[in-house]
Amino acid sequence: MSVWKVSGGNKLYGDLRIQGSKNAVLPIMAAAIIAGCETELINCPRLSDVEAAMSILRHLGCKAEREGDTIFIDSREMNRTDIPHDLMREMRSSVIFLGAILARAHEAKLSYPGGCELGPRPIDLHLEALKCLGAEITEQGGDLYCRDGGLKGARINLSFPSVGATENAMLAACGAEGETVITNAAREPEIVDLQEFLRSLGADISGAGTPTITVSGFSPRKRVGYRVMTDRIVSATALCCAACAGGSITLKSVVPADFETVTSALESMGCEIERRKNSVKITVNRQLRAPRPITTRPYPGFPTDAQPLLMAACLKAEGTTVFTENIFENRYRHAAEFCRLGADINVVGRVAVVTGVSELTGAPVSATDLRGGAALIAAALGATGETTVYDTGHIARGYEDFDKMLMSLGADIKYENERLASVV
Ligand code: EPZ
Repeated sequence: MSVWKVSGGNKLYGDLRIQGSKNAVLPIMAAAIIAGCETELINCPRLSDVEAAMSILRHLGCKAEREGDTIFIDSREMNRTDIPHDLMREMRSSVIFLGAILARAHEAKLSYPGGCELGPRPIDLHLEALKCLGAEITEQGGDLYCRDGGLKGARINLSFPSVGATENAMLAACGAEGETVITNAAREPEIVDLQEFLRSLGADISGAGTPTITVSGFSPRKRVGYRVMTDRIVSATALCCAACAGGSITLKSVVPADFETVTSALESMGCEIERRKNSVKITVNRQLRAPRPITTRPYPGFPTDAQPLLMAACLKAEGTTVFTENIFENRYRHAAEFCRLGADINVVGRVAVVTGVSELTGAPVSATDLRGGAALIAAALGATGETTVYDTGHIARGYEDFDKMLMSLGADIKYENERLASVV
């Protein structure tokens, strides 16, 4: 397992071009199954989750090849409709393939996706949405068996604006006869990106970004190319790293509005922010102050994925911040690791109270999940001395060359083989 050693104290300076979005490219790769044609996806990040999605596509009989940041998918020869346990375990969000497989083949078999570090990850909303369209779903021996005698357009009301369930409903509706209306849909920018990709395939779809999405079945075009959106959570991560380390960095080719809730929280803490059409510049040259209470909500509320990252920026801020995590039930595992660096955090259920301390001190810590791991690196940038971060494999799921990105800005971060790290 890889280990990173971070020596705190270096300020960050320079420009960053942010990677393509993990949470946009994954459902779009699933949507390529519906196409039954050749698709060329540009700006695809090099991540272990994306590799896992490519393995699933190949297992289904599709071609999936990468050339640089472009992935070529050809789903014309798709000849399977099952996703086995080992591939489902590699990436729990593989459930997003279910709607697309049903739309294409009207049958699917998936090993039931388990929970993850953030807590149980139920898929009841996904299954209810697919049943509204006429899918028959049974569970046996840990596997989900789905089939339909032809999906029919329907009204689907989601009891919670689940991102994944919204995406699965959109994808399955593309294979349904007639019109489908999804209400209380998730409004994240990644949903809009999926809509735009489906439109490029010829889909008659509208409303993404609002609570009501309308989809009509369609026959896809023969070949499409599409550029995936920039990753808004990686953008927010870079800003929080600068807030922890100090200095001045500029994010290029981004959509500032996609992560404005994080940017404005950092601005309220005393970070200088300069927003332009496709870039955001942050300058941090003073001690920060605690922001107003942070409550995570579905988009356009404060994103749960940025909660660990903004918490890192609060660890040395003057004053106290109250976080409330409304989306996942176990998303404070990074707090105990922050406390190993000397942070002052009290967690009670979904609430975390963070009181700024004057100094953080480097120590051995372990990444607990994707965003928690990135937040540990951010906090280490502002700690005195060396922090050794274990289990950094979590970070590789969502961040392309995270260490190299930070090194390019002046951070002192080194990769080390775990065996060596424990000896030295
Ligand atoms: C997506 O997960 C993202 N993953 C997550 O990003 C992100 O944190 C989350 O949306 C919220 O924005 C991808 O897009 C691949 P949800 P998803 O369905 O779709 C409950 C990261 O760091 N729920 O909106 O799984 C669920 O338990 C990852 O990149 C049900 O109860 O999120 C959770 O409490 C982490 N039943 C809440 O809804 C369901 O059927 C939000 O889940 C589905 C969800």
